[in-house]
Amino acid sequence: MSNADLAKRAAAEAAARLVENGMVVGLGSGSTVRHLVAALGRRVREEGLRMVGVPTSTETDALALTHGITLAEPDAAPIALAIDGADEVERGTLRLIKGLGGALLREKIVAEAAQRFVVIADAGKLVDRLGQHAPLPVEVVRFGHAATARRLADLGGQPVLRRVQGETVFVTDGGNVIYDCAGFAPIRDPFTLQRQLGSIAGVVETGLFLEHADRALIGSPDGTVTVLEHVR
Ligand code: A5P
Repeated sequence: MSNADLAKRAAAEAAARLVENGMVVGLGSGSTVRHLVAALGRRVREEGLRMVGVPTSTETDALALTHGITLAEPDAAPIALAIDGADEVERGTLRLIKGLGGALLREKIVAEAAQRFVVIADAGKLVDRLGQHAPLPVEVVRFGHAATARRLADLGGQPVLRRVQGETVFVTDGGNVIYDCAGFAPIRDPFTLQRQLGSIAGVVETGLFLEHADRALIGSPDGTVTVLEHVR
């Protein structure tokens, strides 16, 4: 296992310990969440933990089922806690960029529905300013997406249509496409940017998660975990 993966696993296992009997838990997406799902599956099997997961992607849905986790739709019951990875975590504010895995829309719906949202990541995800390492993913409806991309370009986003491999365009679980926008970096005023992007017809959602995270668990390869709290 790589150092980054060991760190992701440490953060994920710490988050799995936050889950209590009877909780409905939002399960994010991505490689860090894969460790979370494995750790929760172990607790279900070995400790008899009773929990219900609300998956944010078809991938997490399938994985959780293989680990014996009971699943529900987001509207079935109030979500006490959502746990998810991130592509960037801004020091101090705990603002995030998410969506490099392509599941940002469902992830944001679940994060907003949850009473608490905990982010799990390795230290390589910490940045001083959003946009430092990751482009900003913007989910766009397929109808007229090239015209929508021109609006993103007008704002300086330098949008690039995400592809799976070769010429195949990546399509999200919601049936939309994603433009990765490296041109907004460094993102000094993410609230204004979110407003501007949200006002473009055709933009479904952006990977800016600005007031969602209550806590970040940052793992290290040696298994230690640093807890960062969002002070409101
Ligand atoms: C999925 O679309 C993303 O938002 C992930 O949460 C994010 O990309 C983090 O992924 P990793 O845990 O694989 O780094």
